[in-house]
Amino acid sequence: MLFGAFNVNNMEIIQAIVDAAAKENSPVILQASSSAIKYARIGYLRKMVEAALEEHDIPVALHLDHGPDFETCKMCIDNGFSSVMIDGSKYDFEENVALTKQVVDYAHSKGVVVEAELGKLAGVEDDVNVDAQDAMYTDPDQAKEFVEKTGCDSLAIAIGTSHGAYKFKGEAKLRFDILQKIKEKLPNTPIVLHGASTVIPELVEMCNKYGGNIPGAKGVPDEMLHEASLSGVSKINVDTDLRLAMTAAIRKTFAEDPSAFDPRKYMTPARDLIQETVQHKIKNVFGSTNKA
Ligand code: G3H
Ligand code: 13P
Ligand code: ZN
Repeated sequence: MLFGAFNVNNMEIIQAIVDAAAKENSPVILQASSSAIKYARIGYLRKMVEAALEEHDIPVALHLDHGPDFETCKMCIDNGFSSVMIDGSKYDFEENVALTKQVVDYAHSKGVVVEAELGKLAGVEDDVNVDAQDAMYTDPDQAKEFVEKTGCDSLAIAIGTSHGAYKFKGEAKLRFDILQKIKEKLPNTPIVLHGASTVIPELVEMCNKYGGNIPGAKGVPDEMLHEASLSGVSKINVDTDLRLAMTAAIRKTFAEDPSAFDPRKYMTPARDLIQETVQHKIKNVFGSTNKA
């Protein structure tokens, strides 16, 4: 089964994602980065997810995205998160192993599962040459050693995706050959794809049409996400597409009605467009719907 994991920062985003998942009768992962937690505050996030669970009868997980250190992971585990990610990808292999193992030991003692990361996600802005790019991809042998040494429950890998709205300069290209080798070495470890927004062209166009300036944005085409799911990816992370949906709807409202200043007037279409975007992904891209 392929899970969509959607980044959350506020009430409207949480409502939009959970309503979309409920409409499609799909389980869903809500994930908050440490900067999202700083913005929304952990108690609010937890209570809003609880409120969503009271309203809907679908499985909803609350996950820490890109946990930067042990303390942040511990804080989330102690605050009822279902799972945490420890992102030690900026460290060398041994340091990443040690940090991840520390989080895994604590998390497992509390019944919480851990996603870890090996390899580096590069964006087009990083402008690295081919050799340097190759060095950033996840090494399949190292991946096996990493999972064995840390006991992590799932692994985020680098095969050419990157965060944000500028993922590729020319054609979109992912290293499915590396993914296949990783799956051969780790057949039972769920694999996570970060930086997996499609950067939906219609949403970029809508932002630009109503005063935005996001030229040349490019993401991972839906067909590639489908291929990734067939090749063993279990969790697909999406943030940028939700940011684009929210921004496009707000820009349109303000452009069409410059006199608008009631937040409900622009947050309602923003929430609706995020819901539509998530529902489209669940139904047509991830296929996690349980509808009869
Ligand atoms: O992977 C990063 C996510 O898009 C979260 O970004 O740290 O700006 O909340 P953020
Ligand atoms: P996008 O920037 O492609 O949405 O990726 C989000 C992500 O990986 C969150 O961890
Ligand atoms: Zn990410």
